[in-house]
Amino acid sequence: MGGRHILVTGGAGFIGSCFVRRTLSADPAARVTVLDKLTYAGNRANLQEIDDDPRRRERLRVVVGDITDLTLMRSLVSECDAIVNFAAETHVDRSILDPTAFLATNVGGVHTLLEACRAEHQRAERRERDATPRFLQVSTDEVYGSVQSGQSVEGDRLAPRSPYAAAKAAGELLAFSYAITFGLDVVVTRGANTYGPYQYPEKLIPLFVTNAIDDKPLPLYGDGLQRRDWLYVDDHADAIAHVLAHGISGSAYNVPGAHETTNREVVTNLLERLDKPWTLVRSVADRPGHDRRYAMSGERLRALGWQHRFPFADGITRTIDWYVANEGWWRAVRSGEWNDYYSRQYADRLATSTAAE
Ligand code: NAD
Ligand code: TYD
Repeated sequence: MGGRHILVTGGAGFIGSCFVRRTLSADPAARVTVLDKLTYAGNRANLQEIDDDPRRRERLRVVVGDITDLTLMRSLVSECDAIVNFAAETHVDRSILDPTAFLATNVGGVHTLLEACRAEHQRAERRERDATPRFLQVSTDEVYGSVQSGQSVEGDRLAPRSPYAAAKAAGELLAFSYAITFGLDVVVTRGANTYGPYQYPEKLIPLFVTNAIDDKPLPLYGDGLQRRDWLYVDDHADAIAHVLAHGISGSAYNVPGAHETTNREVVTNLLERLDKPWTLVRSVADRPGHDRRYAMSGERLRALGWQHRFPFADGITRTIDWYVANEGWWRAVRSGEWNDYYSRQYADRLATSTAAE
C-alpha cells in the first residue's frame, strides 16, 4: 500500500485520536501507526470510529508501547515519513501530586523519539531512505507561563511554572536542539486549552460537565477568575496537520483558542446549557502556582494560511451533546484508578469547601 505513513505517538488520547480520525479521512491514501502506552488517559475506544469504518480501518495500525522504548521507537520511526508526538502526561494537578512520570515521558520520551529520528536522518544522508522524517512535537501555551497582559508570541522567553509545563518546555527545547545540532526536520505547535469529545474527564470542561450531569459538586479553584483561551479539538488537530504540511523547519507555531474567558464564565455557560443550578459550584482551595492567564497571538499560524472553524458557542454545544450522548464512554473511565485520583485531588478540598458566590 502506498501513501504517506505517519507515526502518531499518543494517538489513543484525546487530541491524538482526533488527529488520527481526521488524517485518515482527509487523505484517502494516508496510513497511520498509532503508538500508545494506554495509560489511564489512553483509551483504545477513542479509535473505535475507525475500526467501524471499512474505508479507514485498513490504513490504521495500533501498537501498544512506550515512547521511552528506544528499540521499538527505532523500528517504528524507520517505517514512517513523519512523526507527530502527542504522547505525554498532560494534567497539571497530577504533575503537582507526583511529577516523576512527567519527566520520564515528556522529556525522556521526546529524547528517545529524537534519537530514533537522528538515526533515520543519518540513513537519509547515506541515501538508505528517501528523506529525513519530519518530527512534530505537540507542545502547549503553558510553556510561556502566566501572561499578565498582551499575548505571547513564539519568540518570547519560556517561563513554565508547573512540573507539567516545565517538562513540556524541556521536551520542545530538546527537539529544537536536535534540529540545530544534528539537522533534524523539527516543527513545534503550542496549543491553547483544548476541549471537545473524548477528553478524559479530569480537565475542567469534561469534569464539570460529567459531575453536573450527576448533580455532583463542581470544585472551582480559588476565585475562578483565571483566564484561558479555549480551542476546539478539531481545530487543534487541523492546525497540527497544517503545520505538519506547511510549517517551516525549526519553527514553533502558536495555536490560540477562539475564546478567551474566565473559568467562572465557562462554568456559568455549562450550567445554563445543562439546566443545572449554580449551587453545585463549590469554592475550593486553589491549585498551588496556579497560572492566572494564558493568551497567545496566532499571527504566525494565520500567515501560514490557517484559521479556526469552530467558535466557542458551536464547540461547547457539540462537546456537551457528546458527553450527554456518550455516558457509557465516560462512566467506564470514571472507575478504578479514577476514584483514587479523585479522592487524592478533591476529598480534602471538598470537605473544606464553601458555596461559590
Ligand atoms: P491525553 O492525556 O488525553 O493523551 C495522552 C496520550 O499519551 C494517552 O493516550 C496516553 O496513553 C499516551 N501516553 C502517555 N505516556 C505515554 C508514553 N510514555 N508512551 C506512549 N504513550 C503515552 O492528552 P491530550 O489532551 O490529548 O494531549 C495530547 C498532547 O497535546 C500532549 O502532548 C499535551 O501536552 C498537548 N496539549 C494538550 C492540550 C490540552 O488542553 N489538552 C493543550 C495543548 C497541548
Ligand atoms: P485544566 O482543564 O486542568 O487545564 P490547565 O490547567 O491546563 O489550564 O484547568 C483549566 C482551568 O480550570 C484552570 O484555571 C484550573 C481550573 N480548574 C478548576 O477550577 N477546578 C478543577 O477541578 C479543574 C480540573 C480545573
